[in-house]
Amino acid sequence: MRLILFGPPGAGKGTHARVLAETWQVPHWATGDILRRHIREGTELGKRAKAVLAKGELVSDALVNELMIDQMSEPDGKRGFILDGYPRTVGQADALENFLKRQNEKLDVALYFKTSVEVIVDRLSGRRSCPQCGANYHVRNIPPRVEGVCDRCQSKLVERADDRPETVRHRLEVYEKETSPLLDYYRRRGLLKEVPGDLDVAELQVKLRKILAGLAKQTTG
Ligand code: AP5
Repeated sequence: MRLILFGPPGAGKGTHARVLAETWQVPHWATGDILRRHIREGTELGKRAKAVLAKGELVSDALVNELMIDQMSEPDGKRGFILDGYPRTVGQADALENFLKRQNEKLDVALYFKTSVEVIVDRLSGRRSCPQCGANYHVRNIPPRVEGVCDRCQSKLVERADDRPETVRHRLEVYEKETSPLLDYYRRRGLLKEVPGDLDVAELQVKLRKILAGLAKQTTG
């Protein structure tokens, strides 16, 4: 199964991708998480990306394409994968399509998380993340068992620097300009499936599992 999850910031892509990856036993690669890991580790790439992420801008296509094509070329990519936050521009979508063609593979679906602005603002203002393992929580919707502490690795939870209201506004503008054209891109290829990102996690998981079970049946039957 090869799928991409796209939609505005805070749509729930990361939350759902983690659950789907566990269910389908495929790798989950989130460009945002990979970039933040480089920033934490102080790599050359991380140094170049740090200011870009803090401003809510996009890292260049060249850098992200190289990063993701390296990642997808690893042996565990053969089993399939879930891409979260990539592609995010038409240039990245073309690079992904060309890579898959060279591997004689194809995408199964592009899941678009349609989400309203009020929900996005509420989710991002309440998000708390684990800087160690990447787990995400929400102070009200998905609280950790102990306030401010990660359930998985007991690290102290933090607010993401790019979740400040003015940066969220800018990320939404960047999303509209750079990423929303992917709706047409994948619609034209017959790969687009829209899901209601406003739903709560359990309800949307039921829908996503149905979609993926249907696709698995098509590919095996
Ligand atoms: P990235 O980390 O990918 O950020 P994003 O796309 O803006 O998405 P988010 O992580 O904010 O939201 P999400 O949809 O994953 O929602 P989540 O599940 O966390 O990218 C960050 C930056 O990296 C970019 O701005 C850019 O600079 C750079 N970058 C990344 N990819 C790039 C690329 N391809 N090209 C160039 N640059 C790139 O949920 C949000 C909150 O809501 C959480 O608190 C969660 O607990 C809660 N929640 C989630 N779902 C629900 C629900 N259904 N009900 C209630 N609460 C929910």
